Formats: sequence, structure tokens, C-alpha cells
Amino acid sequence: MKGKVVAFVAVFIVLAVFAMGESFAASEADVGQKVFERRCAFCHGLNGDGNGMAEFVYKKDKGKIWKLYPRDFTQGVFRFRSTPTGSLPTDEDLTRILVRGIPRSSMPTTKDLSDEERRAVIAYIKTLSKRWKDEQPGIAIHPGDKPAWVGTPESVEKGAQVWKEMKCWECHGEKGRGDGPKSNDIKDDQKRPILPFDFTIGALKRGTEDEDIYMTYTTGLDGTGMPSYEDSLNEEQRWHLVSFTKKLMGKIK
Ligand code: HEC
Ligand code: HEC
Repeated sequence: MKGKVVAFVAVFIVLAVFAMGESFAASEADVGQKVFERRCAFCHGLNGDGNGMAEFVYKKDKGKIWKLYPRDFTQGVFRFRSTPTGSLPTDEDLTRILVRGIPRSSMPTTKDLSDEERRAVIAYIKTLSKRWKDEQPGIAIHPGDKPAWVGTPESVEKGAQVWKEMKCWECHGEKGRGDGPKSNDIKDDQKRPILPFDFTIGALKRGTEDEDIYMTYTTGLDGTGMPSYEDSLNEEQRWHLVSFTKKLMGKIK
């Protein structure tokens, strides 16, 4: 008898704790929804599908207009992750985006939000795509220690070789200006035209540290046509490519 009571109480406690956890999660997403409606919906749309009020023109060229689209959170596909291509980002990845914003894209920083509001809006974004129910975020990749030779003339030379062999120029053009032979025909996952990034001017979207560039080559930019080279290039080759990218960016003489 006593055993039964103990078991009953134990089950009750487990259920109560579980229910508290659930309602805590629900209220965090509720706070997040308010933040979202106030601060994100204007661009990302009230239901998070990327169709807000704003329209962003990235470039007009020979009668063609290239637009930039706020992310559609119902797809659950993210570009600036630390996780392998095809996987969901970590909370740290999303927090980093929210703190820094995305340069050259109109995605603003949210430095003025509290940590709690930022966590809440991230929790809310995760309610917008089924992917977050079905999958765990990928395991973060760390760039490791940057080799001392990154940026040396030898490394730039080797990077130029990789650039040639991997045909980066087909999309980005010989000089990285985004005008390669394929640049007019790239489509994003939603079949909308997307321009390869001209990285010879200004900041990069993910960030402009060597490690940021390395991570782009390691994880790819999912949904954009810019692939991951984690399998096709070894770490050394990816670092040489960072050297050559810096050369094209004008950061190395
Ligand atoms: C002024 C318009 C604007 C506002 C306001 C805005 N965003 Fe964005 N956001 C964008 C655009 C545009 C992109 C796509 C940028 C790109 O990839 O070039 C984007 C991309 C993102 C991404 C994708 C990051 C990735 O790795 O793919 C996240 C996450 C995001 N926004 C979250 C938010 C949240 C949360 C808010 C509100 C707190 C917000 N945004 C407010 C315009 C906006
Ligand atoms: C199929 C076309 C395609 C190929 C091939 C390609 N890219 Fe990209 N790349 C893109 C597109 C499209 C973007 C822009 C994504 C965006 O605006 O968010 C991009 C973005 C970038 C960026 C900017 C990242 C940032 O943080 O803003 C760099 C740097 C880059 N590519 C380098 C390379 C290198 C080096 C290679 C070859 C190893 C390569 N790309 C191959 C299409 C391509």
C-alpha cells in the first residue's frame, strides 16, 4: 500500500513539473510573439512568412531588379549558422544574428532588446516552422585555431588555385564582384532570383573576421545556392580560400 502511495506521489510530481515546464515555454513564446509583432513583423510578415510591408531592392541593372527578401521563418532554413549544411542553427547562432544584425541587408541589430526578450523572440520563431518540432539543431562546428600563414602571399596564391578549381568565379566573377557567367541565373530555395554577393565592397553578411569567412565555406549559406565546401575541400584549402577572399576584398596588398 505504502509503495503504491509513493509511486502515485512520484508520478504526480513528475506530471506537475512537466506541466510547469510546458506552461513556462508557452509564456516565453507569448512574450516572443509580442516582441515579434512589434519589432520584426514589419519586414518578416505578421505570420513570419517573410511577406511584411517592406520591400528591399538590392540592385537595379539593365532593367532587371534584384530584390532582397526578409527570411521566411515558415521554411525553417537559415543562412548564417555554425552548424552543418542542411541543419537548423543553434540558439547562439540566432542570438548572434539578432545582436549584430546582418550588414548590407537591412536586417537591423536588436541591441536594445533585453536578453529575455531576445530569448523569447527566438522561442517564438521556432513555433513558426514544423522543422523545429521534428529536428534538433545541428552540432556547432568551431573554426579551430587559424593557421599563422593565412594572408601570406603563398597562401593567397594557393587560394586563387582553389577558387579556380572550385569554379567560385562562375557565380562570383573573376574579381569577386558578383558578375560571373552564372550570376544572372541563380535562384534561391523559393525560386526567386538571387545575386551572388559582391564581397569586394564593404562588410560581409556573416561578419568580416577570417573565422567568419572560413565558416561560410564550411557550412555554406543554405537556401541561396552558395554551397558548403566541408566535404569537397579540406581545412587547409578552406583557409587558403580565406586568404584569397581577403585579397579580393582589398584587405591584403
Ligand atoms: C527592416 C527589416 C527587418 C526587420 C525589422 C527585421 N528583420 Fe530579420 N531580416 C531582414 C532581412 C532583409 C533578412 C535577410 C537578410 C539576408 O539574408 O540578406 C533578415 C533575416 C533574418 C534572420 C535570418 C538569419 C539567417 O541565418 O538566415 C533572422 C533569424 C531574423 N532576420 C530575425 C529577425 C527578428 C527576430 C526580428 C525582430 C526582432 C527581425 N529579424 C527584424 C529584415 C528585417
Ligand atoms: C552557385 C553559385 C555560387 C557558387 C558556386 C559560389 N557562391 Fe558564394 N555566394 C553565392 C550567393 C548567391 C551568395 C549570396 C548569399 C546571400 O546574399 O546571402 C554567396 C555569398 C558568398 C560570400 C559572402 C558571405 C557573406 O558573409 O556575406 C562569399 C565570401 C562567397 N560567397 C565566396 C564563395 C567562394 C570562395 C566560392 C567557391 C569556393 C563560392 N562563393 C561559390 C553563390 C555562389
